Amino acid sequence: MPTPSSVSRPRTAAEVGAQHRDEHRELESILQDLHRRAHSGHWADLNEVWSGFCSTFDAHMKAEEDEVFPAYLRDHPTPEAEARIAALIREHQELRALVEAIAMEIQLHEIRASSVDQFITKNREHAIVETQLFYPWMDVLGPSAL
Ligand SMILES: [Fe+2]
Ligand SMILES: [Fe+2]
Repeated sequence: MPTPSSVSRPRTAAEVGAQHRDEHRELESILQDLHRRAHSGHWADLNEVWSGFCSTFDAHMKAEEDEVFPAYLRDHPTPEAEARIAALIREHQELRALVEAIAMEIQLHEIRASSVDQFITKNREHAIVETQLFYPWMDVLGPSAL
């Protein structure tokens, strides 16, 4: 039986592209919220905010690794494309390590603004590369399945 998340995720390239854009915006907005909290010390509802971030982040990264990256490589069978995707996968590992570090800080009630700042910078740079690499390609694919 399929899981609810696999049922709800879109299948065409255009839908996947639109969902990924939304998720990039959503993640950035939650990170800005965390950043404000880290500076102001306002921690009400932090666990809810953080678990919302983690579920969107995990699903987004997994969808890229399972669907988007392989489809891009099938469509771009070149060493350059392989190197770009390998770099994005390394960045995913770095981002996951930073998420784990922030999760640990939250558990210890010692969240640092500098950790959130570092994550925001890395995540933003990563999203910019993906936006430039994938969305023009997905727009061309239009209604085709990934
Ligand atoms: Fe990514
Ligand atoms: Fe992404």
